[in-house]
Amino acid sequence: MSQLNSQQAAPAMQELKVGVIGGGFMARTHADAIRRAGAQLIGVRSNGEQSTQRAAAALGVPAFESVQALIEQCDVIHITSPNALHFEQPTAALEAGISVVCEKPLATNAHGAKQLADLAARSTAVASVPFVYRFHPMVRQARAHVQEGKLGRLLTVRGQYLQDWMHTVSDNDWRVEPALGGPSRAFADIGSHLVDLLEFIAGEKIVRLNATTSIAHTHRGAVAVDTEDAAALIVQMASGAIGTMMVSQVNAGRKNALTIELSGEKSALEFQQEKPEELWIGKPEISSVLSRQATDLSADAARLSVVPAGHPMGYLDAFAAFVADTYAAIAGKAPNGLPTFADGARACQLTDAVLESARTGEWVATNA
Ligand SMILES: NC(=O)c1ccc[n+]([C@@H]2O[C@H](COP(=O)([O-])OP(=O)(O)OC[C@H]3O[C@@H](n4cnc5c(N)ncnc54)[C@H](O)[C@@H]3O)[C@@H](O)[C@H]2O)c1
Repeated sequence: MSQLNSQQAAPAMQELKVGVIGGGFMARTHADAIRRAGAQLIGVRSNGEQSTQRAAAALGVPAFESVQALIEQCDVIHITSPNALHFEQPTAALEAGISVVCEKPLATNAHGAKQLADLAARSTAVASVPFVYRFHPMVRQARAHVQEGKLGRLLTVRGQYLQDWMHTVSDNDWRVEPALGGPSRAFADIGSHLVDLLEFIAGEKIVRLNATTSIAHTHRGAVAVDTEDAAALIVQMASGAIGTMMVSQVNAGRKNALTIELSGEKSALEFQQEKPEELWIGKPEISSVLSRQATDLSADAARLSVVPAGHPMGYLDAFAAFVADTYAAIAGKAPNGLPTFADGARACQLTDAVLESARTGEWVATNA
């Protein structure tokens, strides 16, 4: 086992041994970011032998015989398996004393996610969750705009995260089955990113919410659907600001349309994930669009702005920055804005609140 304790120095980046669990879209994305960070990707374990062999071939690394065998050889494990595995697998990693990057949602309910966050807090290992939209330079610029007082007292917030990959009745995925995806589908899958980003930029919490959910198709394949395709929320922030959040995976033509707007007494701002190089700044007189240009940015945004303006940065760059910051934390640094298991648990708390409000029709307090 490659276990570290607080007495040992962290390995140099090129010596950091990393494994990936899972073999799909996210396994490839994590593998790219691991390599860009300069760490050693030593192996993969997916679901069964054939799936693991395919993943090993796709990533160009050895196939491991079990999750436990991989954990025993690693300093860090990246978990990209279906949601229902996001309790047992990170628990095994943390109990083995290794650092862990676990995909969202962190567990399929708030109770399990809190247990994981508590376990991580008691450990010397680093435990992070890929809320990677935090790592766009213009998101950091938006956050700095708020922190520097340029937004003023927050008045309203507006957010949406719209996709269409579950639009037709023939669209299907393991996320539809609660046994694999958990009791929430669209909100746990993408709403979790939206509320994380809102609280990250605003620097304050959603203190209560009211939500309703809908199911577009009663059956997908042979499976009767009882997880939501869409969720609509009214939220209230700690400062008293109010707002709406729309989350859907059945909006025709929308691919990954995450948009967030904060409106304050002095100005407003809007960030669109599909145009990540820009930040709209709204003012009653003249509004403007700020393009990424490191010399014009806050220190934190400039830090993440790794290529000159005019050379577009995007999702994979945000992912790489997230993984690099996780490894910086493992090396003993304190990178700004790293999403931890506590943040993963917060998103799960809000997801549970959405389901509860949709079930009861009542407002649910979310500030505890
Ligand atoms: N942070 C982000 O931006 C982001 C984006 C997309 C997905 N995700 C999250 O990543 C996770 C994976 O999503 P995906 O899109 O890669 O799904 P996917 O279906 O493409 O891949 C899932 C993989 O897990 C494997 N698997 C199934 N059971 C397993 C087990 N018991 N042990 C190990 N591997 C197992 C499958 O064989 C498959 O290769 C999900 O939890 C999802 O919420 C995060």
